[in-house]
Amino acid sequence: MENKTILITGSTDGIGKITATELAKQGNTVIVHGRNKAKAEKVCEEIKATTGNNKVDYIIADLLSLADIKRMSEEFKTKYDHLDVLINNAGAFFGKVKETTNEGFEKTITLNLFAPFLLTQLLLPTLEKSRSARIINLYSAMHKNGGKPDFNNFQSEKVYATNKAYGLSKLYLIWTT
Ligand SMILES: NC(=O)c1ccc[n+]([C@@H]2O[C@H](COP(=O)([O-])OP(=O)(O)OC[C@H]3O[C@@H](n4cnc5c(N)ncnc54)[C@H](OP(=O)(O)O)[C@@H]3O)[C@@H](O)[C@H]2O)c1
Repeated sequence: MENKTILITGSTDGIGKITATELAKQGNTVIVHGRNKAKAEKVCEEIKATTGNNKVDYIIADLLSLADIKRMSEEFKTKYDHLDVLINNAGAFFGKVKETTNEGFEKTITLNLFAPFLLTQLLLPTLEKSRSARIINLYSAMHKNGGKPDFNNFQSEKVYATNKAYGLSKLYLIWTT
């Protein structure tokens, strides 16, 4: 794969950062995504220095905010006329006590399911402009450990457990994929 335009969410660290570096090495245009501008800028410079590829840019959004995801997708569309590969990589476990976003959604399902689903929907017209678009969603073997889905507890309204919330969010992500 080369000369593709590739957006990788959560690529300021971990698996996403390694993916961004490897895809930049192959000569692609890589858009690093993060929530921290200073960190994203530093990661871009690191990737350019290690790969010799200057086609590395960044975009910022807090994926725990659906409003910010919408703003990010608009920003992306003003800068890029098409997208070849969207890698929905960002994802995480949260703490032992249930946490809610400023918009009122449970955080695990927001970051691991709502964010990639919404971003994909918003960028679909841009992906459709590619000759061979791909969407990659990072799931986890933990999708087997969330237990039986309970749609009356979809956002842990009745009961919250870290592993269950994470596992089920990844199972639902597989279903949407
Ligand atoms: N690591 C594993 O063993 C493993 C196993 C199975 C599946 N996975 C899945 O693989 C993916 C990557 O995992 P990882 O371990 O590489 O994760 P990680 O090292 O924790 O990196 C997560 C990335 O997501 C970003 N991020 C987190 N919350 C965000 C938010 N609210 N808004 C925007 N960006 C946010 C982080 O940004 P900052 O740099 O600002 O923190 C970072 O760039 C996840 O979907 C995870 O569920 C991981």
